[in-house]
Amino acid sequence: MHRGRLITIEGIDGSGKTTHIDHICAYLKQRDIPVISTREPGGTGLGEALRDILIRRVDLTMDAETELLLMFSARMEHLKKRICPAIENGTWVVIDRFIDATYAYQGGGRGVSMDRIRFIENWVMNGLLPDLTILLDLPVELSLARTKTREQSKDQDRFELQNHQFKNKVREAYIDRAKKNPERIRIVDASAEMQVVKLAISEILDGLVGEIYKNV
Ligand code: TMP
Repeated sequence: MHRGRLITIEGIDGSGKTTHIDHICAYLKQRDIPVISTREPGGTGLGEALRDILIRRVDLTMDAETELLLMFSARMEHLKKRICPAIENGTWVVIDRFIDATYAYQGGGRGVSMDRIRFIENWVMNGLLPDLTILLDLPVELSLARTKTREQSKDQDRFELQNHQFKNKVREAYIDRAKKNPERIRIVDASAEMQVVKLAISEILDGLVGEIYKNV
């Protein structure tokens, strides 16, 4: 039995992650590959409770390093309870955001030292990395235009409420990580038409799945 693979989807808000995660799961199911999809922060009972604090509780102030530790607490629980058991069992796992989001948001956005993030990453993840990360990249202006309805409804979360400069730093940190890890992190232009983005993702998946199953 093959071990399952880990695919993560990253990008700033408005990049269309949810739609494309559905597409990735459908692509894998069509090829009889067992798959589950989940999200971070979240994915477990405790993780979802932490998500509520981290994202929705706009009334709370939170130190950036405290935020970092809570993100990793949710991740530890997620890894132990869902991600690692599924992969060991041969199931593929697709996650809406993972470790690269921590480098982008807490590192790039909040300014926490990347070395400090790496230190906790080593402890929590013990060397595990996604087999493939798709970075749905788009300019902050387009992200803001696409999420305008939420902005107007005053339903913004702790991260959506951050200013333009924060979002630019997040985007730049994502791109920087992709440049440093070109084999694993594939940048897809999310400002393109939906069908074009979908096709680009399918081609990337063809590469990954083809490589794994070529000798079967
Ligand atoms: P989303 O699930 O609606 O995309 O929102 C999750 C938010 O959490 C998003 O604004 C990014 C943020 N986040 C971090 O700041 N660090 C992390 O490590 C993760 C996984 C998410």
